[in-house]
Formats: sequence, C-alpha cells, structure tokens
Amino acid sequence: MNVLVTGGTGYIGSHICVELIQAGHQVIVIDDFSNSKPEVLQYIKDITGKEVKFYEFNVLDEVKTKSVFKENHIDSIIHCAAFKAVGESVEKPIEYYTNNLMTTLIVAKMMKKYHVNNIVFSSSATVYGDPEVVPLTEDCHLGDTTNPYGASKAMMERILTDVQHACPDMSVTLLRYFNPIGAHQSGLLGEDPKGIPNNLMPYIMKVATGELPCLGVFGNDYDTPDGTGVRDYIHVVDLAKGHVLAIEKYNTPGVHITNLGTGKGYSVLELVHAFEKVNGVKINYEIKPRRAGDIATCYADPSKAKKELGWQATHNIEDMCRDTWNFAKTHLK
Ligand code: UFG
Repeated sequence: MNVLVTGGTGYIGSHICVELIQAGHQVIVIDDFSNSKPEVLQYIKDITGKEVKFYEFNVLDEVKTKSVFKENHIDSIIHCAAFKAVGESVEKPIEYYTNNLMTTLIVAKMMKKYHVNNIVFSSSATVYGDPEVVPLTEDCHLGDTTNPYGASKAMMERILTDVQHACPDMSVTLLRYFNPIGAHQSGLLGEDPKGIPNNLMPYIMKVATGELPCLGVFGNDYDTPDGTGVRDYIHVVDLAKGHVLAIEKYNTPGVHITNLGTGKGYSVLELVHAFEKVNGVKINYEIKPRRAGDIATCYADPSKAKKELGWQATHNIEDMCRDTWNFAKTHLK
C-alpha cells in the first residue's frame, strides 16, 4: 500500500514509518520539522534500507497538500501531524485549534476529493477525561477535556466521524493512545522534545543524562498504591505496529475505535525505580504539588485491539526503560 504519514518525522510518526516499510508498504511523509529533526529521515533509511518520499511543509498549506495528493496514488493515511504539548496549548489555544483542526479538515477534504478511503488517526486517551472506572474500554463515556490540546483531539475525532457518516465508503480509525514511551531498539529514533519536557519519561531521561537536576513528582497523595499517578505506558514500537495492523485490517467502511495500551498501570515512582534498576542510574526526584488537570489513574482495556487486530503489546516496562536510555545516551548528551 502507499501510505501517507502526516507528521512522519515526529516521535511516533517516525516509528510508524519504520514499521510500515518493514511490513512492505511505501511511505510518503509530510512534516515541517516543527517538533522533529531532518536527520530522522536518514535514521529511517539506516534502519530499513529504504527511503520515504518526503515533503517539507505544514499540512495547513492546502495548496501544497493538494499537490501531494495529486502527484501520488495514496491508499491510506496515518494522520499524526499535530501540536501536542498540554501546557503550551493552554497558553496558545488559537495556534493549537488552528493547527490541529485545520490540518484535519484539509486532510479530510483531500481524501474526499482524491477518493482516499482509509485513514488512521492518532487520538489519545485524553478524550476519556477523568475516568469513572478503569480499565477504560472504547465505549466508556467521553469525558471533559481539561486543556485545548485534549479538546482538539476530541474535536478531531468528531470531525473525522462526521466525515465518515457523510462519506460512507470511508474507513475512519481512531486509535486512542495511552502513554507512549521507549525508543527504537537501534537507538536511532526516540523522543527528543525541544526545551523542558512536559511528559514524565523525557524528563526522567534528562535527569539521567544530567541535563536537568531533579525530577518533580507531581503529587503523592492520589488514591493509588503509592500515592503517585498511575498510567498505562506503552512501548512506541508496539504502538507503531498497531498502526500497521489498523491500516491493513480496518479496511471496511465505518468508524473503528481502538485503544492502544498494555492494560497495566504503573505509578510515577514505579517507573522511576524501574528506570534506575534497568539502567543502573540514579534519578533524583522530589515530591511537588499535584499538576493541574492531572488524574489519579488511567489504563486501558486493550482486549478490542487483540480481538479485532490481533494486536497486543509485547514490550514490558523494563524494555521501555532500557530502550529509552539507549536512545538518550547517544542522542541527548
Ligand atoms: N509527572 C510527574 N512529573 C513530571 C511529568 C509527569 O510526576 O515532570 C506525572 C504526572 O503527574 C502523571 C504521570 O507522570 O501522573 C504521567 O504524566 P505525563 O505528562 O507523562 O502523561 P499524561 O498522562 O499526563 O499525558 C499523556 C500524554 C498527553 C495526553 C494524556 C492523556 O502526554 O498527550 O496522556 O491521555 F493528553
């Protein structure tokens, strides 16, 4: 299949490109490097021996996006391009809504115009809000999102769902990611956020390399076994493999919604201690007040992905910690 990956040089997009190529697909990428680096294209080639066809611009540029659809026969789209920093989205709601919603509308418009009937969308467990019960199944009630980033993900899901209803030949897949961490086993691809990281694992990584002095643990008084927040961490390579199965198997018309998580939750301190143990490094941390908008516990029921896609996470928390550090040692010093 010819697959267009928007945001294909980003943390998740780059791992998806590798898995697509290794599964025998041809990959076209649009990315503006707003949160990634050009070297990623070479790393994808180093790992797979194949090049992606690359276009450098923001999908917001409708004229350029249109020309990609015109020049290429596209069978499927994996739409990852989006701004994704929760805190920044609160400061810059206009930029977040413009970028995330408009790119989705432009992609949908091009799908309709060029008769591309298959899209997989990078959604997030954030659409569930503060869960009433865990584990979260796909039919759990969608909750209130607490920031423009989360709201934009919920709106993008809605836009694509409405488009599918209006274009009943389309297959729209909403993949709700839990907390992707880890890196490619080669050490070439991983998460390298610009500035001070918002998310836990990139922060741990930068404390481990010495770039940042100390991790702040946001709250130890949650209703969880050790009081710190519990999340479902999923290895980014497992997540990427889920996308390949989704474009291959969800090819019947309709809206397909699937969680991608492991089904197991780990607390902040469990992740910190696993990282220390696996990698033989010390992570200095101090307990800080709770972070606004955080929830106590969030983990997936991944049984639908297993049943419908034959997908299951295969990497454990130790693999995630080891691969993250392997990437960090070579890339972040
Ligand atoms: N945490 C810390 N210190 C930090 C960063 C995070 O203690 O410096 C804690 C948080 O309080 C939380 C856990 O680590 O308990 C995980 O936090 P992350 O920021 O790594 O992840 P979130 O679960 O908050 O957010 C993730 C994605 C978002 C998405 C959200 C809900 O990063 O994109 O899940 O699905 F919106």
